Amino acid sequence: MAVSYKELGFVNTKEMFSKAINGNFAVPAYNFNNMEQLQAIIDGCGESNSPVILQVSSGARKYANQTMLRYMAEGAVKMARDKGYYNPIALNLDHGDSYDLCVSCIESGFSNVMIDGSHLPYEENIALTAKVVEYAHKHDVTVEGELGVLAGIEDDVVAAKSIYTQPEEVEDFVKKTNVDSLAISIGTSHGAYKFKPEQCTKDEKGVLVPPPLRFDILEEIEKRIPGFAIVLHGSSSVLPKYVDIINDNGGALKAAVGIPEEQLRKATKSSVCKVNIDSDGRLVVTALIRQVLKQKPEEFDPRKYLGPAREELKKLIIQKNENVLGSAGKA
Ligand code: G3H
Ligand code: 13P
Ligand code: ZN
Repeated sequence: MAVSYKELGFVNTKEMFSKAINGNFAVPAYNFNNMEQLQAIIDGCGESNSPVILQVSSGARKYANQTMLRYMAEGAVKMARDKGYYNPIALNLDHGDSYDLCVSCIESGFSNVMIDGSHLPYEENIALTAKVVEYAHKHDVTVEGELGVLAGIEDDVVAAKSIYTQPEEVEDFVKKTNVDSLAISIGTSHGAYKFKPEQCTKDEKGVLVPPPLRFDILEEIEKRIPGFAIVLHGSSSVLPKYVDIINDNGGALKAAVGIPEEQLRKATKSSVCKVNIDSDGRLVVTALIRQVLKQKPEEFDPRKYLGPAREELKKLIIQKNENVLGSAGKA
């Protein structure tokens, strides 16, 4: 039996994005795979009074089961309202790869779906995206498409190098698909290793500094589709603080580099109105679990290490909403 996202308390991204564009901020889209991540997102966005998009990836569906995640998200909205948080919450399928998957998510209560046809030839990407949009809009569900390819691991697809979005294509793509938002490739990529050390310079402390995002391409895109909602994937900053905690407590992350927070802040002042963050949350959780277990090797109660990890993730989310996305107080 199909259920509408409206009955579950979610919203689609329409109003969120128009507020974000007009208010020069971006809505955070955080991935979750388990209860602790979801609680941290709800509490972090509730306490900072930020709109939020909860994201379910294909890896998350394999790990935790799609039905389980959808019911967890429904429970999360109820928890938020019980706690007195009235911020808008959307539930998004992240990197949907087929029409049938998008339909199944829409029928089970997702309020936004991403159909990622970015690896397909241009005309096939248009045809698939348009088909998903046609179905989704009948249910008032919004759709994100993608043009250009991000380097790194994107669910099961590994792309060796980025193919930047071609500004000449965006107007035609948006017109022919009727999509609601567009993910673009301007130098971000998925995961904790976004740049090779040889692509970076070093600052005075020896920290790797990546090449800047291609703001020229972003500007060109904005000129062609003014006011249209743009999405940035692969927007974790890979904060050295958490990489260091991991490495100081038995981990071995080498040359992990992310997108500097100032660059993301700059991007949110444009028509970028959704910023996807997953890896930063993973790093925080791993850092805190490693730290607790190293300090208390006798500990065997998962609540004693997942609890501190959840607390630190909440703090990270508040920090991102306040200082990077600019979404705090914008619910
Ligand atoms: O698209 C990238 C996300 O970080 C999801 O990754 O499929 O390993 O959960 P995942
Ligand atoms: P990060 O790996 O940079 O967190 O990107 C996540 C993402 O784009 C999910 O779709
Ligand atoms: Zn992504």
